Amino acid sequence: MLAIIGGTGLTNLANLEITRREVVRTPYGEPSGHLTFGEINTGRHKAEVIFLARHGYGHTIPPHEVNYRANIWALHSLGVTRVLAVNSVGGVAANLGPGQIAVPDQIIDYTYGRKHTFFEGDKPVTHIDFTFPYCHRARMLYLAAAKASGIPVVDSGVLGVTQGPRLETLAEVNRMERDGCTMVGMTTAPEAALARELDLSYATLALSMNHAAGRGSSSAGIKLEEAEAVLKVGMEKIRTVLAQAVELHAAMPTEVRGFK
Ligand code: HPA
Repeated sequence: MLAIIGGTGLTNLANLEITRREVVRTPYGEPSGHLTFGEINTGRHKAEVIFLARHGYGHTIPPHEVNYRANIWALHSLGVTRVLAVNSVGGVAANLGPGQIAVPDQIIDYTYGRKHTFFEGDKPVTHIDFTFPYCHRARMLYLAAAKASGIPVVDSGVLGVTQGPRLETLAEVNRMERDGCTMVGMTTAPEAALARELDLSYATLALSMNHAAGRGSSSAGIKLEEAEAVLKVGMEKIRTVLAQAVELHAAMPTEVRGFK
């Protein structure tokens, strides 16, 4: 089963024929909302998907208050093997200006105080390999879907994750750039690591909705209204790539629909 976690600007999938909604309770509390079950009619066939809005369906949950553990646990408990996430980000690198889409391959986690692991009090202590934080197969799926849709995407990039909800200072973005970050968002950590703890195949499609603080058109500050407008247009492209990804996933043999 495939799941999509929508971020800012993506609280529903326009092309999803909803079949049912399910409220799932987990040992970690409540997910961001009910899980939406549906089918995406890809033109050739119908593919089943579960959708979840990370910030709630009314976009009411800020990045630091998302119950990431409940979200990932709920999807896993329903038999999901792959999660295609969407993140809106600020572009740090020059090639990630507003409207550009990327499929990052690395993460630097600057968040703090979030419930970031399922492995609490485990004996013996459990570690996961996280050298490559996103699933290679899921990244390839996103890249292939973008290509088939004719939508240019930047392959790879380092997504720095800040605590939010405030945006970054100029010095923070300068530091992140020195660290190697090419984009900045607020939610792929701890989401990606929690997915890995449960062996889920997980990748994200990142939409740059603004230049990061102090960069390009944000050199004098981030203009939130402009960013909103970019988000609206960009999410239409994201929807197109997602529909294509769902179709490609559905056509894959079962054994490659999981983590690699
Ligand atoms: N910083 C952090 N998160 C973001 C940004 C940003 O500039 N834009 C969209 N999400």
